Amino acid sequence: MIVVERIAELRERCDLARRTGSTVGLVPTMGFFHDGHLSLMRAAHANHDLVVTTIFVNPLQFAESEDLDSYPGDLAADTAAAEAAGVDVLFTPSVPEMYPEPTVTTVHVAALTEGLCGATRPTHFDGVTTVVAKLFSIVGQCTAYFGRKDFQQLAVVRRMAADLDLPVEVVGCPLVREQDGVAMSSRNAYLSAEERERARGLFAGLRAAAATVENGERDPDPVRAVLESETARHGLELEYAEIRTAADLTPVAELDGEVVVAVAAPVGQARLIDNVTMQIAGAEVSVDLGVVTLATQGSTN
Ligand code: PAJ
Repeated sequence: MIVVERIAELRERCDLARRTGSTVGLVPTMGFFHDGHLSLMRAAHANHDLVVTTIFVNPLQFAESEDLDSYPGDLAADTAAAEAAGVDVLFTPSVPEMYPEPTVTTVHVAALTEGLCGATRPTHFDGVTTVVAKLFSIVGQCTAYFGRKDFQQLAVVRRMAADLDLPVEVVGCPLVREQDGVAMSSRNAYLSAEERERARGLFAGLRAAAATVENGERDPDPVRAVLESETARHGLELEYAEIRTAADLTPVAELDGEVVVAVAAPVGQARLIDNVTMQIAGAEVSVDLGVVTLATQGSTN
């Protein structure tokens, strides 16, 4: 694995790989790897000749009040973990390399960014789509891997690539959980033992909501009520609990087809998000709560 810091060098390596018949897999990240990140790299490695992972804590997607300055990082551990996961090129640009001048051009995806996380983070997704568009432009034709943990981000990036005819296939990968059910997140590092216990309420709430649907409920209101009461029982105050179509995130009047139940809650210093997707066809319900990691959080850091 080689570590690259310059845009021109990354572009050249990707161009060269494609010229010699190789395919390129891309995994954009902000670093401080856990098994959720590494699962994307392993998927890319299984399917592509050249795997590029990027680590860039993108200032554009953090609001003034957010944790840009304290965002966790460990480049030495990340480098070793990426190499073990099959990454060929680790791109670690500086802020001036990515943004040599104040940004006046941004990418805005409408509709899909409204509500859910967009409601409390109104500038967040423009930051994400702008940096991801830059990465797609630098890397060029490739398959890019994103986690379903950040369900809205995946839908937004997929739509951006389609609307702008970017030569990138966007692939969604399973949400990876820790053994206690908490969705893996770099921000779990902020949680105390007591907060960690409370964080488990998100998974418990989603599981209870899914069970209600499995038992035949198709009205979103009672499903949301179960989610809210179960998370409240764990001492959580939700920022939102929403039920949307999985494809374009529109609110649903009745649960049918592929839907996502998504939640966000502040827990101590962290703001945690989680979701469950369900495929509903008549009485048939197939629930996707993600997969459980074999690694323990922190083992790669
Ligand atoms: P980051 O939070 O570092 O996440 C990088 C990728 O890892 C995203 O696709 C995210 O969905 C995925 N991921 C994180 N936790 C996961 C989990 N528990 N299971 C499965 N996948 C998981 O998301 C970002 O960075 C940034 O917004 C980025 C896209 C890099 C743009 O700056």
